[in-house]
Amino acid sequence: MSPSETPVVVARDLRQVYKISRGFLHAADQLQAVSGVSFTLHAGKTLAVVGESGCGKSTLARMVSLIETPTAGELRLNGVDVVKASTTERHALRRAVQLVFQNPYGSLNPRKKIGAILEAPLEINTELTAAQRAEQARAMLALVGLRPEHYDRYPHMFSGGQRQRVAIARALMLRPAVIVADEPVSALDVSIQAQVLNLLADLQQELGLAYLFISHDLGVVRYIAHDLLVMYLGHAVEQGEKKTIFAQPLHPYTQALLASTPGIIGSGTAHKRIVLTGELPSPLNPPSGCVFSTRCPNVVARCHTERPVLRELAGRQVACHEAEQFIQPAAEQH
Ligand SMILES: Nc1ncnc2c1ncn2[C@@H]1O[C@H](COP(=O)(O)OP(=O)(O)OP(=O)(O)O)[C@@H](O)[C@H]1O
Ligand SMILES: [Mg+2]
Repeated sequence: MSPSETPVVVARDLRQVYKISRGFLHAADQLQAVSGVSFTLHAGKTLAVVGESGCGKSTLARMVSLIETPTAGELRLNGVDVVKASTTERHALRRAVQLVFQNPYGSLNPRKKIGAILEAPLEINTELTAAQRAEQARAMLALVGLRPEHYDRYPHMFSGGQRQRVAIARALMLRPAVIVADEPVSALDVSIQAQVLNLLADLQQELGLAYLFISHDLGVVRYIAHDLLVMYLGHAVEQGEKKTIFAQPLHPYTQALLASTPGIIGSGTAHKRIVLTGELPSPLNPPSGCVFSTRCPNVVARCHTERPVLRELAGRQVACHEAEQFIQPAAEQH
């Protein structure tokens, strides 16, 4: 395998368990925020992670960006095992993965000019001279569609969309291989969302970036993703190519998510409109058997006792005992 074919991120059975203290005399509760998630991400590709609030998306993002160490599982960045890596290797890997958050304002120092914000990572991590750093910052401004005069402005002088461009520019200063974007457009107006998504798509083309793109919005994901990882209560319930899953979602939870996103299910498809009822269970006390069993419209007895594992079915992976019934004959697909 040539180096360019080495996946940028390989996650195998990643887990994150948080200990929740219940006070001095009690044993801590264990909260399984991510329960065994696996995926592979290649250069130039976008894996979108979707699911409701609390399903573990940001926890996964924190593990992949080396902010948190997984409780268990394997994580490789550029072929290097993160858990076993030396301090020097970890330092290099941290540069290779950069984060973009939902709220760029919170992560941009209000007292620093944009130029200084963009140059800070270079100052810490490289031997470049001040003039070289300034040159790179200016080039990056142009790359993300900002103007030269923005170099001397402060974050509060920008609109939300421009601030997200600044945050993207800062993330790119160290030439990362992976951008972990946690709801990067969720706080923006819809018209601005499209511009920032276009920018991300252009940058991916130009720089060969891999994106781990976290979103609860399938409308956004439809636009940007190549692959999809659908999570529910810390578990991957369906994953594979976006077009395969959007054309024919096989997990009832994916079906419900798609059904609740306007404009996605086209004419000619035979999807039922599924409305999720019931409350999302607490991850401190997940249902036995299938995690989705308490809200699933297709639940059968087995689902309450036997947890379905991810398995290959119709070109993707799905964790549902009953998924076969949702496969439509090819003739009905459009
Ligand atoms: N540091 C922590 N300590 C304890 N529990 C945590 C911690 N971080 C997250 N959790 C819990 O882990 C679960 C997953 O949280 P996470 O933030 O990853 O979800 P999410 O999918 O990003 O949600 P959202 O869409 O609201 O951002 C939640 O139940 C959350 O309360
Ligand atoms: Mg989150």
